[in-house]
Amino acid sequence: MNIAVIGTGYVGLVSGTCFADSGNDVTCVDIDKKKVDQLRDGEIPIYEPGLETLFSRGLREGRLHFTTDMDRAVSNADIVFLCLPTPPGGDGQADLSAVMQVAGELGSLIEDYTVIVNKSTVPVGTGDRVEEAVAENVDRERFDVVSNPEFLREGAAVDDFMYPERVVIGTDSDRAAEIMTTLYEPFVRSGNPIIVMDRRSSELTKYAANAMLATKITFMNEIANICEKVGANVDNIRRGIGTDSRIGKRFLFAGIGYGGSCFPKDVQAIHYTAAQNGYDFKILDSVMKVNESQKISIVKKMEEYYETTDFSGMTFGVWGLSFKPETDDIREAPALYIADELTERGAKLLAYDPEAIGTFKQATSPKVLDNTTFVHDQKAALDNIDALVICTEWNEFRRPTVDNFADEMKQPIIFDGRNLYDLERARKAGITYISVGRPAIN
Ligand code: UGA
Repeated sequence: MNIAVIGTGYVGLVSGTCFADSGNDVTCVDIDKKKVDQLRDGEIPIYEPGLETLFSRGLREGRLHFTTDMDRAVSNADIVFLCLPTPPGGDGQADLSAVMQVAGELGSLIEDYTVIVNKSTVPVGTGDRVEEAVAENVDRERFDVVSNPEFLREGAAVDDFMYPERVVIGTDSDRAAEIMTTLYEPFVRSGNPIIVMDRRSSELTKYAANAMLATKITFMNEIANICEKVGANVDNIRRGIGTDSRIGKRFLFAGIGYGGSCFPKDVQAIHYTAAQNGYDFKILDSVMKVNESQKISIVKKMEEYYETTDFSGMTFGVWGLSFKPETDDIREAPALYIADELTERGAKLLAYDPEAIGTFKQATSPKVLDNTTFVHDQKAALDNIDALVICTEWNEFRRPTVDNFADEMKQPIIFDGRNLYDLERARKAGITYISVGRPAIN
C-alpha cells in the first residue's frame, strides 16, 4: 500500500519505519526542512532501540521516503496517517491546532478514495472535527476518517509496533475498516486482535488505557507510602497481588512517580474532557496530586535523614535523568523536579545519565545548571559525594554495583527512587540504603 505519514515526531517516525518494513511504500512528511534533510541522509533524531536497523533498511530498499511536499505524498496515498503533536494547551486540553491545520489542507490534496487516520492522542470528537474540515474541500465519498491510537512505549516502541497486543481501529466505515485490517494483519500474525469499534470509543480507549496505567502506578505508590509507615515491604505486596491475574504483574512497580510525555498529559486531558462534559473524574484528580508529591518524596526522605532542609555544602550524585530507561526523553522526568528541589536547598549535584544529559541540560533551570556537574561515567558521579540519588532504573545501575558502593563512595548512602537493589544484599554490602516502600537499611 502507499502510505503518507504526516509528522515525523516519535510516533510518525516509528510508525512510518515499521510500515515500510512490512513492505509498504511510505512517504513521511514534515514541515521542518532541516529535519527532512537529516532523515534523508540516514540520521535519526531520536534514540529508540532497534529503530536504526529498520530505518536504514527502509531507506536502502527505497520503501521509506522523506519530503516537505505534502501534496506529492498525499495525492498517491491509500492511507494518510496524522502523527502530529497535540501538546497540552493552557487549559489542560490537548492543543489541536497542528491536526486541524493539516486536516484543512488535506481535502484539496486527496485524489482517489483515501483513509485518513488519526494516530495522535486526541480528545473525543476530534475525528468528527477532522472529517468536517476535510469535507470542506472534497466530496464526502472520497475519504473516511479513522481513529487508530498508538500504544507504543518509548524504549520499546519498535517491538510494540511490530508485535502489538492489540490494534484498535475506530470507524463506522466498512471500507476503511477493511483497508486498515489488511494493513495491520502482518503485525498480528500471532493471533492478537484487531478491534474495530466506533470512532469516539477508539479515541477514548487511548485515554482510558493511559489513565488506568497511571492510576495503577499511583495506587502502588500510595501502598508504598503506607508500607513505609507500617514497616511492610512493597515488593512483597507487589508479588502477593500481582499473581492475581485480575490485577496482573506489570505496572506495579512503586517509585518516584510516573513521568514522560504521555501519562501526565493524558490524565490531565481526560480529566478535563470529563469536566467539560459535566463529570468530575475524582480518582484522576487524586492520581495527579499523588504523583506530584511522589516525584519529590525522595527529597523529603533526605530531609528526614539529615534532619535539615538546608543542604548547603553537600554534594549529591544523581544517577539517571531521563523519565525512564532506554530513552533520552526527560519530559516530566522526576529527576527534573528532584534536581530543582535539591539545588533549591543549597546542594550541588554530580549527575550522570547514559543518554539524557543533553536533553536534561536543555530543559532544566539555570539554577540547576549552575550547581550541577555532568559526568559521562556512572562511577565519576560517586566521586566525593555525600550520598547518591537514583532517579532512573537504567540496567547499568543494577547489580553487582550494590556490592561495591562501600568501596567507591566516601559515605555509602543511597536514596533509591527505583528500588534497584535487594535489601539483604544492601545490608551485607554495609551501605545505608533508603528506597521506596521498603524498610530503610541503616
Ligand atoms: C506510555 C504507555 O505505556 C504506552 O502504552 C502509550 O502508548 C504511551 O504512554 C503513549 O501514550 O504514547 P511511555 O510514556 O513511553 O508509554 O512510558 P511507560 O513505559 O508507560 O512509563 C511511564 C511512566 O510510568 C514512567 O515514568 C515509568 O517510570 C513509570 N512507571 C511505569 C512506574 O513508575 N512504575 C511501573 O510499574 C511502570
